[in-house]
Amino acid sequence: MKKQEESFLNASDFGKDFTWGVSTAAYQIEGGHNTHGKGESIWDRFRTKSNTILNGDKATISCDFFNKYKEDILLMKSMNINNFRFSISWPRILPNGIGEINNDGINFYNDVINFCLEQDITPWVTVYHWDLPQTLEDNGGWTNRSIIEWFSEFVTVCANSFGDRVKHWMVLNEPMVFTGAGYFLGVHAPGKKRLKNFLPAAHHAVLCQAQGGRILRRLVLNAQIGTTFSCSQITPFRKNKRDKATAIKVDALLNRLFIEPALGLGYPTEDAPILKKLKPYILTNDMENCRFNFDFIGIQNYTREKVKYSLLVPYIRAKIVNASKRNVKTTLMDWEVYPPSIYHMIKKYSAYSEIKKIIITENGAAFEDHLKHENIEDKERLNYLQKYLYQVLNAKREGLNIHGYFVWTFTDNFEWAEGYFPRFGLVYVDFKTLKRTIKASGKWFSKFLSN
Ligand code: FCB
Repeated sequence: MKKQEESFLNASDFGKDFTWGVSTAAYQIEGGHNTHGKGESIWDRFRTKSNTILNGDKATISCDFFNKYKEDILLMKSMNINNFRFSISWPRILPNGIGEINNDGINFYNDVINFCLEQDITPWVTVYHWDLPQTLEDNGGWTNRSIIEWFSEFVTVCANSFGDRVKHWMVLNEPMVFTGAGYFLGVHAPGKKRLKNFLPAAHHAVLCQAQGGRILRRLVLNAQIGTTFSCSQITPFRKNKRDKATAIKVDALLNRLFIEPALGLGYPTEDAPILKKLKPYILTNDMENCRFNFDFIGIQNYTREKVKYSLLVPYIRAKIVNASKRNVKTTLMDWEVYPPSIYHMIKKYSAYSEIKKIIITENGAAFEDHLKHENIEDKERLNYLQKYLYQVLNAKREGLNIHGYFVWTFTDNFEWAEGYFPRFGLVYVDFKTLKRTIKASGKWFSKFLSN
């Protein structure tokens, strides 16, 4: 791929129907953690435990989007961004998860949505981006089958409150990450570990993603309904048979586990036999209820993974070889910079004939930003975005099923267990003064979109 080709990229190369936007999540930007009637979320609780979040960072204020949403939406507008993906904080609108509705919370999202529409920015709403109400977690959270009813109530409130104006919906954000990191590895909220937590959480998330789709279909007129998945190209570390077989297994777990049941293909048990252990949680009709005909599928790609066989890892017998150990270019997350990964993922998901439409709902990178005479220089992020976009363009030119791209993310924000250390934004945030400054990458993106 030639450098020149990338820098001459502009949005019109992707055709006029291609959707461009930026993605965010409530907990990462809003702050206002305990004001205006908001209840406690599992992330509010998780951060109070020791050694859960890098440097003990808190998202109590974060970017203060709760108070600064107008400023941010106007900034978006000034940068030619006309699609904004954000999520609804469940405990902000239902402080106890179910039951009493917090009108101040509903009003906040109404204000955000109305202001977007006034500025000609289309709101794309993620229903669940990881901030479960703590009261529900106290009752088992995603491991409790009752989550299907709790979640249905939440989706119903969202659809009834915002569905007259919001027409683009995503039911879940990355179920593999919130169940894997939150209920198996314990590195995300609620910090639970073990297969016995992960398996029911995963199956319930699969049921909720379809159930959420059905509720939105019923209650929202003319809705475009999707859901989003994390995905990474998985390649064997060594060329031997065992690593190759391991790569197939890890691909089934990381890239296929949550989408295939939705498409009516069941769980990929053949390639990942560990999933046979889901059986006790699967009740009559469940596999039918896992299906939903989504209008689009959001895929979120940042990197690729290299995996090897490892006897030491219980159950899975597989190990991810960290990028830092592979002598490759990495971001501050220790994720390999590997642009072809996004192309491979588009190709992989395009091969499912059941998927109507694919949108990249997240892609971006954390690098250090350099302040030079009031300008924020972030050449590495800019290069990253151009290279990944070039791969998306290749996929599009080949006729693969790709229809949109959202950058992760608009402003620097609270990056979960990594706190404020990795900055992903097109816009720099000084977390002391909350001042926003468009970075070089943001200026580039805005120019790219203007064409
Ligand atoms: C994704 C998450 C998003 C953000 C990016 C960097 O997995 O959906 O909230 O943390 O990674």
